Amino acid sequence: MRGMADLDTLKSELLDEVNRAKSLDVLEDVRVKALGKKGRMTGLMKELSSLAPEERKQRGQELNQIKQEVVIKLEERQRELNRKALDDKLVNETLDVSLSIRPESQGTIHPISQVTEEIIAIFARMGFAVAEGPQVEDDYHNFTALNIPEEHPARQMHDTFYMPDRKDGTKMVLRTQTSNVQIRTMKAQKPPIKIIAPGRVYRSDSDQTHTPMFHQVEGLVIDEATHFGHLRGCIYDFCREFFNAPNLKMRFRPSYFPFTEPSAEVDIGCRRNKGELVIGEGDDWMEILGCGMVNPRVLENCGLDPEKYQGFAFGMGIDRLAMLKYGIPDLRTFFDSDLRWLKHYGFLPIDMPGGLTR
Ligand code: DAH
Repeated sequence: MRGMADLDTLKSELLDEVNRAKSLDVLEDVRVKALGKKGRMTGLMKELSSLAPEERKQRGQELNQIKQEVVIKLEERQRELNRKALDDKLVNETLDVSLSIRPESQGTIHPISQVTEEIIAIFARMGFAVAEGPQVEDDYHNFTALNIPEEHPARQMHDTFYMPDRKDGTKMVLRTQTSNVQIRTMKAQKPPIKIIAPGRVYRSDSDQTHTPMFHQVEGLVIDEATHFGHLRGCIYDFCREFFNAPNLKMRFRPSYFPFTEPSAEVDIGCRRNKGELVIGEGDDWMEILGCGMVNPRVLENCGLDPEKYQGFAFGMGIDRLAMLKYGIPDLRTFFDSDLRWLKHYGFLPIDMPGGLTR
């Protein structure tokens, strides 16, 4: 039989064990060893029955007192450990969404991809859909249907890559312009039509400003009411936004394309500052695209009634726009796959397509 001193020791041992329990599992162990069926406290309670009534009462009260304190301490510790478990979980499962990617370990977006996305984003806001057409094209869609008949001098201007004829005699070329998508779109869908068609085109030409493969974006709007004023506004809005120049200087110069009538070329104002090109201001002009009202003969070729339908088309070189916007001097470097060049002129995946809203 233990005296008061023993019980004091027991109490401080039990409370100490509770305090030292580092996890809920250990705490449960401590509880079972103290208050479980075979626990130390339980054992002492059982011994009470062998005591004389007076002693039993006194001893019983002491034991109950200890038991209560241990229970309270257990509950307290349990709450503490629960809170800690939750805190740990919150810390471990945190996802820091503000953490930025490490640019040095990433590749870059090629300026042509970036500029293509920028162009698409601007025209998409104006309600244009994106259309596509084949790069290996038949002579009809690349030339004839666009009012460029055989022996037309415009064919020679294009330095075409000719492909072997098809078995049925169809003449094939690598498309020299994205204008083929105009024909394919007008044949495939009814007006109103409002598309742009970015893509690769090919011409047998190579120097500082020409590569055998380059990129164009074509535009086509056909409905019953579109006129030259719409064309002008559309091109003006696009250029201002693309070059991030709200007061962009721009002029339409009469020109000739077989598939548009009237036709124009568009220049934007620029000036040279110690060899560097400044876009949008100054007294020099830089040609950036061709456009015009769709020639009635082209509409006819696509089965559209020129008395009813009309619209405009435009075409521009993506590579050239990229050179102008981002100050890239030599077109050929676009396709050298030089990693230092790509690092310098490339874009991070998180760069938004540019424009006034950038
Ligand atoms: N296809 C022309 C070229 O490659 C560019 C062009 C000019 C496209 C005028 C058009 C246009 O749609 O209307 O030089």
